[in-house]
Amino acid sequence: MNQDGVNKGRRRFLMGATGAMGAVGGVGVAWPLLSSWQPSERAKAIGAPVAVDVGSLGEGEMISVEWRGKPIFIVRRTAEMLETLRSDELRGRLSDPDSDNQNQQPEYARNDVRSREEELLVVEGFCTHLGCAPQYRPQVEPQSFDDNWLGGFFCACHGSRFDMAGRVFRGVPAPSNLAVPPHFREGDMLTIGEDGETA
Ligand code: FES
Repeated sequence: MNQDGVNKGRRRFLMGATGAMGAVGGVGVAWPLLSSWQPSERAKAIGAPVAVDVGSLGEGEMISVEWRGKPIFIVRRTAEMLETLRSDELRGRLSDPDSDNQNQQPEYARNDVRSREEELLVVEGFCTHLGCAPQYRPQVEPQSFDDNWLGGFFCACHGSRFDMAGRVFRGVPAPSNLAVPPHFREGDMLTIGEDGETA
């Protein structure tokens, strides 16, 4: 079965089994649109969990899911990205490299790469300054806003920068790291809005 067939099959299953639906869209033109579900008005109103298939999300790719009116960014990070996140060079430029602000993530994501599963980043695409959606900028190359850019997220509204774990840089308007929402994965299905089993 081709990928499209796989996604359609899972979509039918989800709609029948859970009723939890979310809208998924690519961020920017360079990132793939994997699948799409429209949340019901009632689901939006109560902030129901959102489920998304991340099985075909490739290394370095990002998708965006709407949950409680906010974009949720999901990135499958590469080994190189994870290595950079642990480097002293990067950590020294961050405001809260160890996620000491406990309000910004569940306990299971309070680690050196801010994730429940190492490669899978799940963060709110909601700048902690005034709420703009940061842009995904994974390229490790000089940028107009940072000569030594190591990849991450850039908020064009007022220039805040975040790394590939959503950790905020020093000296920018945003006061804290991007928030990590409750989430858990079962197989290829990632659910946003619930913790699942945390033991
Ligand atoms: S809203 Fe992102 S820097 Fe102001």
